[in-house]
Amino acid sequence: MLTARDNDLLTQTGPGTPMGDLFRRFWIPVLLAEELPGPDCPPVRVKLMNEELLAFRDTEGRIGLIDPVCPHRGAHLFFGRNEHSGIRCAYHGWKFDVSGACVDMPSSPAGAQSQARIHVKSYPARDWAGLIWAYLGKRDARTPLPALPSMEFGLLPAEHRFVSKKLQECNWAQACEGGLDTAHFSFLHMDTSEDEEQVMRAMSNAEAGTHENLVRWLRNDGAPVFTIQEHPAGLLLGAARRADGDDLYWRISQFLMPCHGLTPNAFPGQNYHGQTWVPIDDHHCWVYCYSWNPERPISEQERQRFRQGFSIYPRLDDDWRPLARRDNDYLIDRAAQKKGSFTGISGVSEQDACIQDSQGSIADRTRENLGPTDLGIVRFRRVMLNAARQVAENQPLEAWRRPDAYAVRSGGAVAPRNRSLGQVMEERFGHPYGYVGNLYGLPSDGKS
Ligand code: FES
Ligand SMILES: [Fe+2]
Repeated sequence: MLTARDNDLLTQTGPGTPMGDLFRRFWIPVLLAEELPGPDCPPVRVKLMNEELLAFRDTEGRIGLIDPVCPHRGAHLFFGRNEHSGIRCAYHGWKFDVSGACVDMPSSPAGAQSQARIHVKSYPARDWAGLIWAYLGKRDARTPLPALPSMEFGLLPAEHRFVSKKLQECNWAQACEGGLDTAHFSFLHMDTSEDEEQVMRAMSNAEAGTHENLVRWLRNDGAPVFTIQEHPAGLLLGAARRADGDDLYWRISQFLMPCHGLTPNAFPGQNYHGQTWVPIDDHHCWVYCYSWNPERPISEQERQRFRQGFSIYPRLDDDWRPLARRDNDYLIDRAAQKKGSFTGISGVSEQDACIQDSQGSIADRTRENLGPTDLGIVRFRRVMLNAARQVAENQPLEAWRRPDAYAVRSGGAVAPRNRSLGQVMEERFGHPYGYVGNLYGLPSDGKS
């Protein structure tokens, strides 16, 4: 449970809000790279943390992310011409480069003199890991641009990753909490039918049931015990369920500041998945979804499967809006719900979106009754609220100094009951919080 004040603090990211200031001190994905497919391609409107912006790729391939309002008389630069290293307003031809500088003002007889004074707001942007990233925060002599977070899917060759996005119709924080709350799998995503074959079919679509024991363990223990460990980039969240004999089945996820989550399902050799919840405004977010395999390229067949809806990927329309969404009740099938599906909704991503949106466009955390399986989200809130307060007091965050600490993995493990989370991680990943940066030439001890 949070006070109303802390709930506002956690959920509001517009300009001038403490959480907004915290987000702006990190690189954040703002588009898929494919949305700006080549030099001088059409510009794209971007709404990010309540700011209206315009993204474009110039003739040299550089990314511009600028205020879309032409400073002459307010025409929208979305309708402008992206040509010869800048975007030209369609009204009277003023032209702006990726830095926001006015580089041509053909309507003004004073020419160069007046254009030198005109500048639109612009933010640094980069094309990396199949995404366009932007930094919207403070920059001055004492605050240099941070490095991009070294997330593993971006360190690998492009053939080893798949990247997409989906619109979600609720506040970023409750969607992120849904990703970190791995206890819900035993209910929300479960098939309750007695027919083992049906269960396996349903669960293999969730990629949790690639082996039948997992389904049984998930079904039989809906009250996993959480162990949470803080690390320089965020939190390691372990949830242990009873397995067979003296073993526990661990589902281990990662939260990486300010809004990334890595999923707990992958066993060695399987694809890893992650999601990044980027606020559009306080009531909507883009969820950037990525899958990667460090050992082999992602096959065309797998890519097709992701595009058609699988695991964290919903079925989408051409604008990355899920086909099952708020305005059609997520295509709930009550007969299927009677027959075995816990929700009657098809698809793990759709089930997550439905239940997270149903908490309200901004969940009211003043009315909750939290229990032991909510420990992960309690710690997530604490980390984010403390970090927002720290930034408001001009205190530095460790995560800023440690972009390498984002090179971590999460996943599943089966281990004897007497092992600690750190020991399970050592055994599974060779490092107590899953650091793999050493494989990519980053500092080998996880510390720069
Ligand atoms: S409004 Fe843009 S050039 Fe006049
Ligand atoms: Fe889920």
